[in-house]
Amino acid sequence: MRAHSCRQGPLLLLLLLGCGQPRMSGRIVGGRDAREGEWPWQASLQYRRSHVCGASLISRQWVLTAAHCFPRPVRLSEYRIRLGEFRLARPSPQALSSQLLRIVLNANFTEDGGQGDIALVQLRRPVPLSARVRPVCLPGSRAQPPPGTPCWVTGWGSLRPGVPLPGSRPLQGVQVPLIDRQVCDRLYHMDSDIPLTEPIVLPGTLCAGYARGSKDACQGDSGGPLVCIQSGRWVQEGVVSWGKGCALPNRPGVYTSVAHYWSWIQEHLGTPVLRAHHQEPSHPRSHQLLPLLLPSF
Ligand code: ARG
Repeated sequence: MRAHSCRQGPLLLLLLLGCGQPRMSGRIVGGRDAREGEWPWQASLQYRRSHVCGASLISRQWVLTAAHCFPRPVRLSEYRIRLGEFRLARPSPQALSSQLLRIVLNANFTEDGGQGDIALVQLRRPVPLSARVRPVCLPGSRAQPPPGTPCWVTGWGSLRPGVPLPGSRPLQGVQVPLIDRQVCDRLYHMDSDIPLTEPIVLPGTLCAGYARGSKDACQGDSGGPLVCIQSGRWVQEGVVSWGKGCALPNRPGVYTSVAHYWSWIQEHLGTPVLRAHHQEPSHPRSHQLLPLLLPSF
């Protein structure tokens, strides 16, 4: 018998402190309906109350998303983050909305398909965690899981290009294996005029999907998490960034590598992030007040 199975206290504490652990225990293209509470870190970034991108809760006050989700000029007050949501058109009683205090865009991001497509959003106030709202783990500096690792991408994005997910449909999830960046780059050069010497899939990204296509993220999933299970916890390895069409053969989904931007994430967070292999958060650093950071074009 495992020691923790008969002691409620520590288990409860673990659930409250831990990351990457849904309490319950998977359109996106070719996926399936999520179960309620299955992906409790999944957030919806909304502009004037409409869903524009996915995002993920990484601590009580910080959300990770893609930089391209914030076209200029960025009007902070027009955005909000919804957490604990399941069907976007039917707000759930356990869901909550938060206004944005700050957006930190990675300074390397200049254009869609470019590098540094990652952004941090600080929420106005730390959110209460619950069965429906809890953070995902971040990978830290550990080696990325190997190609072929089955991971999941989730979101309220289109079912096919030009076919938005109906608001009455639940959050979608699809299982996609990781693809090595260089292999992915070669796939992207197939039937393309771009010479092999000119990389399409750039450093700091990773791919997931199938050479044959059929399963992928799509428009509206951007900014959302690609998560892989490691030692029983869900760790976010990627942020949905771009793809040629959706689910096309030889055109897998391209994700910003979270591990690659680990130190950048660390730099900008005043609060500790929960990491997969450290159960407890490290001591909070004194809170730094950073202005809204925007890349220079
Ligand atoms: N960039 C698109 C968005 O803003 C979709 C990204 C994912 N596309 C893909 N085929 N994996 O939502």
